[in-house]
Amino acid sequence: MAAARALRILPDALLATTAPRARPVHLHLEHTTLCDHVCSTCIRADRIDGEVHMPLAEAIAHIDAIGPQFLSLNGIGEPLLHPQWDDIVKHAVGRGARVSFATTGTHFRAQADRICRSGLGLLKVSFHGAEPRTFSRLAGGRSLDVVLDGIAAVQEAKARLGRGPELRINYVVSDQSLSEVPEAIRVARAAGVGAVYFKGALVPKGRRAGLCASHDIDQLRAVVREAKALAASGGVDSNLDQWQREIDRVGDTAPDERPPPPGRCLVPWLSVFVRVDGSLLPCCNCTFRPDEGKLGTVGVDGTFAELWRGPGFAALRGEVKGGEYSLPICQHCPDPVTATQAAGAVLHSVWPGFLNG
Ligand SMILES: C[S@@+](CC[C@H](N)C(=O)[O-])C[C@H]1O[C@@H](n2cnc3c(N)ncnc32)[C@H](O)[C@@H]1O
Ligand code: SF4
Ligand code: SF4
Repeated sequence: MAAARALRILPDALLATTAPRARPVHLHLEHTTLCDHVCSTCIRADRIDGEVHMPLAEAIAHIDAIGPQFLSLNGIGEPLLHPQWDDIVKHAVGRGARVSFATTGTHFRAQADRICRSGLGLLKVSFHGAEPRTFSRLAGGRSLDVVLDGIAAVQEAKARLGRGPELRINYVVSDQSLSEVPEAIRVARAAGVGAVYFKGALVPKGRRAGLCASHDIDQLRAVVREAKALAASGGVDSNLDQWQREIDRVGDTAPDERPPPPGRCLVPWLSVFVRVDGSLLPCCNCTFRPDEGKLGTVGVDGTFAELWRGPGFAALRGEVKGGEYSLPICQHCPDPVTATQAAGAVLHSVWPGFLNG
């Protein structure tokens, strides 16, 4: 049943139909824009467009209209600050969705039992560095000690209640956190977290070929090699193989001359991002360019189904099919989800940010 639902969009995605019959299998729902931090890598460091919670009834209406197989309860905000976040999760799980979100980890101790009882499938703990000082400096003053204590609280609640989410570290690789990639594996191992997903930082100047253009490729090679060895010996799962493949693929080519990853991005067929005000974006990367990529607002410009099959999405899919992107975020995309990447994710337990739960 689950597999059949997940596969429902494949024919449209593979044929690049501009107005697909099937709805997306993945929903990214921004249920809150409240946050108690301002991380240096986040768009909130540049601007904060208001802080609101999506009412529970609206969140439920979006979930019911889309019927996702995977739900990421995330946007530019801290998911655990929404007073009814677990009611949203329970509703989605009741409809057969697998739910995940990325979170700071600051509120784990206070909400550990709630997290484990909610039905959440995957809890992604965001790291912007792995040494206490870097962690705090880049992540809006967060304390690594508080987050590690929170992880222990969730693990304890999970053992006591006999249920709870898988835990994963989501590590944002920026110029300032690159050297601590191996340390992230050590921290995960010491905290009993079985997996680390390394995500290249979205930066305003854009990236080329999946690797931040300003990363020193030799340094990147060295840290990935060291971290891979640590992960293998420590039994920590990661997506470092994928980083290694990208490094091998681009070799020593200068950033501006690197070819884009081969293949067409499938995201405009598989996934949709619903902002807190009901506006639709093709993908979560667009939240880092707040004035670009909006494809209409549910309830204002039409129903979800009308917009999903309407001219805005159709034009974007046509561009993706033709290999020409008008959106700068797509032109400089760090992680287009191509068929090769999606297939790799299916075969691998550490899936990319958007397909998990
Ligand atoms: C915008 S946050 C929202 C969830 C929550 N507030 C948090 O920080 O975990 C979603 C994810 O984006 C990551 N992130 C922050 N800045 C980023 C950047 N420049 N590039 C890529 N991901 C980034 C965060 O670490 C987090 O894992
Ligand atoms: S990355 Fe998350 S915690 Fe940091 S400012 Fe952005 S929304 Fe808040
Ligand atoms: S190309 Fe990148 S930014 Fe554009 S839709 Fe695909 S994943 Fe998102």
